[in-house]
Amino acid sequence: MAESSQLPYLLRATRGEVLERPPVWMMRQAGRYMKAYRDLRERYPSFRQRSEQTDIAVEISLQPFRAFAPDGVILFSDILTSLPGIGINFDIVESKGPIIDPPIRSQSQIDQLHLIEPEESLPFIKEILQTLRQEVGNSAAVLGFVGAPWTLAAYAIEGKSCKDYTLIKRMAFCEPKMLHKFLDQLGDAIALYARYQINSGAQVIQMFDSLAGQLSPRDYETFALPYQQRVVQQVKTAHPNTPFILYINGSAGLLERMPQTGVDIVSIDWTVDIAEARHRLGRNVGVQGNIDPGVLFGSKELIKSRILDTICQAGNRGHILNLGHGVLQKTPEENVAFFFETAKNVDKLLAVTA
Ligand code: CP3
Repeated sequence: MAESSQLPYLLRATRGEVLERPPVWMMRQAGRYMKAYRDLRERYPSFRQRSEQTDIAVEISLQPFRAFAPDGVILFSDILTSLPGIGINFDIVESKGPIIDPPIRSQSQIDQLHLIEPEESLPFIKEILQTLRQEVGNSAAVLGFVGAPWTLAAYAIEGKSCKDYTLIKRMAFCEPKMLHKFLDQLGDAIALYARYQINSGAQVIQMFDSLAGQLSPRDYETFALPYQQRVVQQVKTAHPNTPFILYINGSAGLLERMPQTGVDIVSIDWTVDIAEARHRLGRNVGVQGNIDPGVLFGSKELIKSRILDTICQAGNRGHILNLGHGVLQKTPEENVAFFFETAKNVDKLLAVTA
């Protein structure tokens, strides 16, 4: 199929083609474990500048692409980047993480939020994605991403990263109407933002509901799943052929429910066996993952054997090789290079062992 071989390799996997090796990229593949990123961060200490000034964000997105030739290039940004577009301010502070100030705690604050107009509030996203498509061509797929309503609401309400999520849970259990209103608004904004990313050149969308694994299955069904569905449905109505990936950290208790969102691919963490996960997810969705990011602190032998094991367990269709969460800050860069090199030559390794 001449036409299909022109497609970025990652997109062939999302179409369900049988492949010799799975496509590979890494969540958080741009960032602090890379010396090139740390050097650039010294010159531009503000995260918002790094992610919102087109030339810098493009450069950072391309650092791992040039170094490791992954099959996917994700734009350098954050799940919080869309929040100012609806009237919520944020910053990312060194060694503290995200800060939302003032946090969203009342109905009147929620009533004051406005609809997102991505062309107005996020013009740099279009420039970044368009430039990435030009730079990358067909050598990799360009991925856009968004946060899901529950996770964005958790940051907005708590005001920062935290352990127990007591403030959003108190709102969920004491003032559910207020939280549902907020989740509704976030859902519509996120869907519009994802559509804007696709119109700007994103070839795949990954939605991070990183914190939805903090919910019991019944509360997931009330506060996260319907809003994931709402985003997916709105995006799919406008862009039925753009593959949609959903990631939840700690999703092992939720796997059977996740395909109900309508996504094409579920991205799983390492606490579940990938063959079992595929069985539980059913035939209609692909899977992404699921190597423990901690494995990249191990020996090259270990890294190779975990790659081979994961690929064999996942099967040769509908699998994108990835970590089970973002690459960790202190990861040796040469191990990331080895991971990609091994994963991209795995068809040869498998032929030898066969
Ligand atoms: O993959 C990529 O290269 C794109 C990069 C990316 C960032 N944030 C850049 C970033 C992606 C995909 C995100 C998504 C994101 N942001 C998530 C979902 C993924 C996940 O990890 O579950 C979440 C929960 C956030 C919120 C957020 N932003 C956190 C928890 C932090 C880390 C705080 C810290 O200091 O460790 C951030 C900041 C952030 N976003 C950094 C990067 C590279 C680190 C700050 C820096 O480099 O100065």
